[in-house]
Order: sequence, then C-alpha cells, then structure tokens
Amino acid sequence: MKPIRKVVIPVAGLGTRVLPATKSIPKELLTVVDRPLIDYVVDEARDAGIEQVVLVTGRGKGAIEDYFDHAFELEATLKQKSKTAILEEVEKTVPTAGAVSYTRQQAPLGLGHAVWCARELVGDEPFAVSLPDEIVARRPGFLRQMVDAYKEVGGNLVAVEEVPKEDTAKYGVIAPKSRRDNLIEMSGMVEKPAPADAPSNFRIIGRYVLQPDIFQLLEKQGAGAGGEIQLTDSMNTLNGAQTFHAVICDGGIYDCGSKLGFLKANAALGAAHPELGAEFRAYLKEIS
Ligand code: G1P
Repeated sequence: MKPIRKVVIPVAGLGTRVLPATKSIPKELLTVVDRPLIDYVVDEARDAGIEQVVLVTGRGKGAIEDYFDHAFELEATLKQKSKTAILEEVEKTVPTAGAVSYTRQQAPLGLGHAVWCARELVGDEPFAVSLPDEIVARRPGFLRQMVDAYKEVGGNLVAVEEVPKEDTAKYGVIAPKSRRDNLIEMSGMVEKPAPADAPSNFRIIGRYVLQPDIFQLLEKQGAGAGGEIQLTDSMNTLNGAQTFHAVICDGGIYDCGSKLGFLKANAALGAAHPELGAEFRAYLKEIS
C-alpha cells in the first residue's frame, strides 16, 4: 500500500459567500484568531504525516505564496528589536524549501477541475484533498483520522458528518449501504441534492483520500450541479470500480466559507485560546 504523502488544497475559489471581505484578499488568508485559514489546513495535513502540499491557485491569490515564504524585512526588524517570540511565530509559517508547490486553475470550472489541475504534481500515487474553507482546530485532525482509516482499508475515502436534512442542498451527500463503526460503504454520492432527493443526511466534509485513477475520470467529467465539474460526480463513478469508504468525523469542524461559520470559528477558537481565552470568554458572557 502506497503511503499518502501529498495533499491538494484548492485555493482558487472567489469566496463569494463572504464578500466583501474577500474583494481584494484571498479568502484563505482570512484570519481565525491570529492565523489565516490556510495555516490551519496545512498544519492539519502536517499532523497527518503529509510531506508535500500542492496548492491550486488562481488570479489574485499571490499573497498566499508570500505567506509561505520568508519576509526578510519583517524578520530582520523583529530580530533587531529582539521580538524573539513573534519572530519564532513568523518563522514557523515558512515550510521546508520545496515542500509547497503551486499550480494554477485558469478558469473557475469547479472543484473537480481544480483537483484535476494538480495531476502532474501528484503523479501516480494516492493523495489527500483538503478544502481550506473548513478548519478543524482539534488534534488529531480529520485528515489524520482519514489517513489512519486508509492504512486499515486502503482505496478511497471521504469524510462525512450528519447535518439537518434541510441543509443537504449545500453539500455533497452519500447514499450509505452498510456501516462498521465509523466506516460506511456507499451505494453512491450526489452533489447538492434537494432535501427531498437526498439519499441520507450524511454530508461530505472537505477532506478526501483518493487514488490517482480519479484524474482520468475528472478529465472526461462533464458539468454537474451548478454547471461545474464536480469532484463528487467522478468519485461516484470510482465508487463502483474501487474500494470507497466514508469516514464519520463528528464535530469540531467550522465552515469558514460562510459568514456564520467564520464567526463561530473565531468565537470557539478565541474562547479556547491559551492566552486570550479567559478574558474573551468573560467578554462573551458580558455581551450575551
Ligand atoms: C464542495 C464539495 C461538496 C462538499 C463541500 C464541503 O462544495 O463539492 O461535495 O460537501 O465542498 O465543504 P462547495 O463548498 O465547493 O460548493
């Protein structure tokens, strides 16, 4: 069984659900407490043992590349002023040289197309996909749970959680066939079904482990829900041909692609913050 060494993180999305905040900055750089979203997602991947990060960027996303690089003037100034603790925090954001690669999605054709754009950088090996809208603060994170499940059952995996039935139209939804502990075998997957048509209330979370065979399917994948090339549609085809499981990852995920989810993440992580938490919790009580 080949190990999961790489994660594809699509960062080309326009962030329309959180406009105007994302008018001139990438949504992946919006901060939850003191770190940008992308930092949480990369950190979760590292915690899962992943060595190589592949970012699928787009126009106007250059600031993300700068985030993962040295900022010489800033670092020199912090050093000169002996701001050692902050300097250490800043230096931690710079990965080992070559550990982050970039490719570009040249048109917003959908998540499936974004993942397909990473095919040459991934090559012929299984890989993970993490969507940076959704962050998991606790460790071990969801990707670690996925990689552990992969070591047990191999094949392909999607993370899922239960949501109220009226929310199914926002997500990919699975049709469960059988369940063993937190692993589900599926008869299918469907992207953004209306609640009346949804095969279950298990929605797909933005964490995946996929075999490279997905790329051939994505190459031929026609437009699906919303007129976009959907990863879910190609995964649905792969589900018939290869081992495919859904892993139930309950709780602790924040959908920061929505304004409410973003606020909840800031409130929860702020309240749990080692330095700011106590004062912030008192303030939350005061205003509620
Ligand atoms: C994407 C996927 C969807 C998944 C969701 C999780 O949708 O297509 O299957 O449930 O991410 O965040 P998007 O949010 O890009 O519309």
